[in-house]
Amino acid sequence: MPASALIDARNLFKSYENDGVVTPVLFDINLKIDRGEFVSIMGPSGSGKSTLMHILGFLDTHTQGQYLFQGQPTLQLTDDDLARIRATRVSFVFQMFNLLPRTTVLENVLLPLLYHPTIPVSKREEYAKKAIELVGLSDRKDFLSSQLSGGQKQRVAIARALVTNPDVIFADEPTGNLDSASGVAVMQALQSLNDQGHTIILVTHERTTAEHAKRILQIKDGCIVSDSSDFTRQIAGGKDRLK
Ligand SMILES: Nc1ncnc2c1ncn2[C@@H]1O[C@H](COP(=O)(O)OP(=O)(O)O)[C@@H](O)[C@H]1O
Ligand SMILES: [Mg+2]
Repeated sequence: MPASALIDARNLFKSYENDGVVTPVLFDINLKIDRGEFVSIMGPSGSGKSTLMHILGFLDTHTQGQYLFQGQPTLQLTDDDLARIRATRVSFVFQMFNLLPRTTVLENVLLPLLYHPTIPVSKREEYAKKAIELVGLSDRKDFLSSQLSGGQKQRVAIARALVTNPDVIFADEPTGNLDSASGVAVMQALQSLNDQGHTIILVTHERTTAEHAKRILQIKDGCIVSDSSDFTRQIAGGKDRLK
């Protein structure tokens, strides 16, 4: 039997409900993502990109359809299972970095390890230093995060996302608050993680940022309207027919 896709959303819908007002946001999302992929989700503001990412990353739940994570239906997971998945299997990088300001780079990156259920205390510092090295900030590890540029802060956020060795890193508009040179450095950091086998799902509304990924999804008004991997499969299918 082939291994399950890392992420498998089937006929997934999402509505928000506030004070009896129901706002439908995602419609019939069908999406499979395999381990090792680098996928960009593009679309205009308000199209549902963050909502989709939050569902896939266990920060929110869908309201209809199925979401299988490594073959397991997520609606059946207990609160304990979810807490464990959030701590060990997924990580987020946000537009606003969300670092602790009067805290060093090393301490920020150590944070996700403090409550980690399996990484031993004796390994924490080694793992954190390795993650900081991977984003090219070893010489800044004892700086306060408030002493860094925006691009450096975002690379610290990437190191913090990476330190638990998650199955997937979600990045929601990670370059949205950066000048273009810093944005390029952040995208290079994400790209090199993907080259090392990490699965990355990136939300952006910038085409040049999206193009760092091997696969681009377009979302509009809560629907996936194109997936570049369909195009790749069509070309491959076409070649087969020509043989
Ligand atoms: N908590 C919420 N309650 C109600 N509506 C929401 C909530 N969060 C987002 N929305 C709505 O869902 C739609 C999609 O939002 P979002 O996923 O943030 O889009 P994007 O990330 O593409 O800009 C928007 O119309 C937004 O107003
Ligand atoms: Mg968003």
